[in-house]
Parts: sequence; structure tokens; C-alpha cells
Amino acid sequence: MNRAAAVLGFLREAPGYVSGDLIASRLSISRTAVWKILRQLREMGYAFETLKGKGYKLKCSPDRLYPWEVQRYLETAFVGREIVYEDTVGSTNAIAFNLALAGCNEGACVIAEAQDAGRGRRRRAWLSPHGKNVYVSCVLRPALPPSEVSPLTFISCLAAFDVLKAAGLAPTLKWPNDVLINGRKVCGTLAELSVEPDAIRFAVIGIGLNVNMKESDMDEKIRGKATSLFLETRNCFERARVCGMLLNGLENYYEALRDLGTDEICRLWEERANIRGVPMEIVQMDKVYRGVSEGIGRDGALLLREENGRVTKVIAGDVSF
Ligand code: BTN
Repeated sequence: MNRAAAVLGFLREAPGYVSGDLIASRLSISRTAVWKILRQLREMGYAFETLKGKGYKLKCSPDRLYPWEVQRYLETAFVGREIVYEDTVGSTNAIAFNLALAGCNEGACVIAEAQDAGRGRRRRAWLSPHGKNVYVSCVLRPALPPSEVSPLTFISCLAAFDVLKAAGLAPTLKWPNDVLINGRKVCGTLAELSVEPDAIRFAVIGIGLNVNMKESDMDEKIRGKATSLFLETRNCFERARVCGMLLNGLENYYEALRDLGTDEICRLWEERANIRGVPMEIVQMDKVYRGVSEGIGRDGALLLREENGRVTKVIAGDVSF
């Protein structure tokens, strides 16, 4: 697909119509190859204006997360530089996990238009309708012990937080891995690990960000609890751009994690989440903790001052306020 991406890039940069001969000579391919690529692009949803004697002009691009569309917005060194793109998958996390096992490079991503077995924390399902949202999983190989996995989920939440801020929204963070707007979930992230006793071999960071999903795309279970960029703004967003921005943020925060340590990521997360002094309840399997948050420990655990005055370190659970 590299040649098609090059043709598209050339047409995008051109101020007006571009002749097939010019495209062919600039990209050192035959005129027939240009014609075949344009046909292939049309089948993928691109539309071109053609003018006799002048050539082609890109009229519109489909709303698809094709790798070359996402990569137009990347400012990264390694995240998203290799993208496996599929129309529909079970779970992008599952595919990325297998890629990592097979030895893919750090930063390789799996992106899909839909998931029919999208998964969340605690084996919950992640609703993933076709062509509406962003479902992306990225392979990272951090030099961290498995006990410090929380800051890895935090970096994906911080990246999503920044994307939402840039869209003019006021997101909030909910421990450990949710991003909300007006109390409704707009993004969930899931870190899945392959570990040795004292090291993470690799981590797959999966991000589900609701972009153009409407109430009618939601099922009963999440209606009223979930939201999307569209629902909050009544505007449709270009998903490839949103995905590119998300991956830029992911790499930036990952580098901050590597260079400045988990303390800094936990500090940033805590600052954005603004949870110190907030009363909350945490349900952990059959246990319920109630108290006031004292922030986040350096390993990402939630510190809760319980009613008896004791500070408990909670490493997993569902928070409600
Ligand atoms: C949660 O809120 O519990 C986490 C949801 C994570 C969903 C994303 S969508 C992309 C990636 N693939 C999956 O199957 N899950 C994550």
C-alpha cells in the first residue's frame, strides 16, 4: 500500500489537478500503475475529480483508520510507525499480544474499525461498533517491574485526556484507567502484560476512545453511562486525526515515564485527576473500601484513608464517588 499512500500524498499536496503522467514520473511508476492505484483507492472509498487534459484532484477521503491516514498526524519516533490495520477483529489487544510474542518492534500498533470481542478490565466487554470510534493497541517494552504496571495504564489515560482537552472538552480521570466527561465514560484503557518474575517482557496498551458514537450505537448496558466526542460537542471528528494525536501523546508520556520515572507519571495523573480529599467507595470483588482519597502511591495504587483513620493501599477495584 506504500505506493497508494504516495499517490495520495502527492495529490494532497498538489494545489490543483495533477496529470497521471506527472504522478507516474514523480513516483517512478508506470502510467498503468497509477491508473490501477487510483482504481484501488476508489474501491477503498476515496473520490477524485477528473478533468480531461488536466488530470486528477482528490475530492474526498473516507472516514477510515487506514495506517497512512493515521500516520499523516504522527509526530512520533516509534509509536504507530508500524500499523496492522483490520476492518473487524475480535480484539486489537489479542492481535497485538500475538505480534509482540512474535517479536514485533516496540511501538507497533493494531488498529481496527470494529471489534466483536473487544475486552475491558475484569473480563468486561468493550462495545466496539464499526467505523465510529478508535480501537487501538500498542506494543511497548518498558524496563519496569510488573508491580509498576499502573503507571503504564496512566500514560494512555493521560494521552486521551490531552486529546479531549484539545477538543475543547473538560475530561476527568477515574482511577485506575477511565477517562470521563460529565461523569460518563468516554475512554477506557487496558494494559495486558507478558511478565517474567521481576520484569515486564512486553505490555500491550489498548485504548478504546468513543469518537463519533451516538446513543443509537450503544446497547442498554452502557446507554446513560458512556459518552463520545460527538455526543459532547455535536460535531463529527476525523478519527484518523484523533488516533494520531492519541499515539503522539502515548509516546510522549511513555518517554516521560522512561526518562523521569513512575513518580512523575503518577504525579501528573494525580494532578489531572484531582482526587486528593475526595470521598469515595472502592469495590474489589467481595470487599468494599470507603474513605477519603489521599492520592496515588508511586506504584499507582490508590491511597484511601478509611473511616477508622487507617490509610489503605488499594491496588485494584471499581471506584464510585
Ligand atoms: C476498560 O474500560 O475496562 C478498558 C477498555 C479497553 C478497550 C480497548 S479497545 C482497544 C483494545 N482492544 C480491546 O479488546 N480492548 C482495548
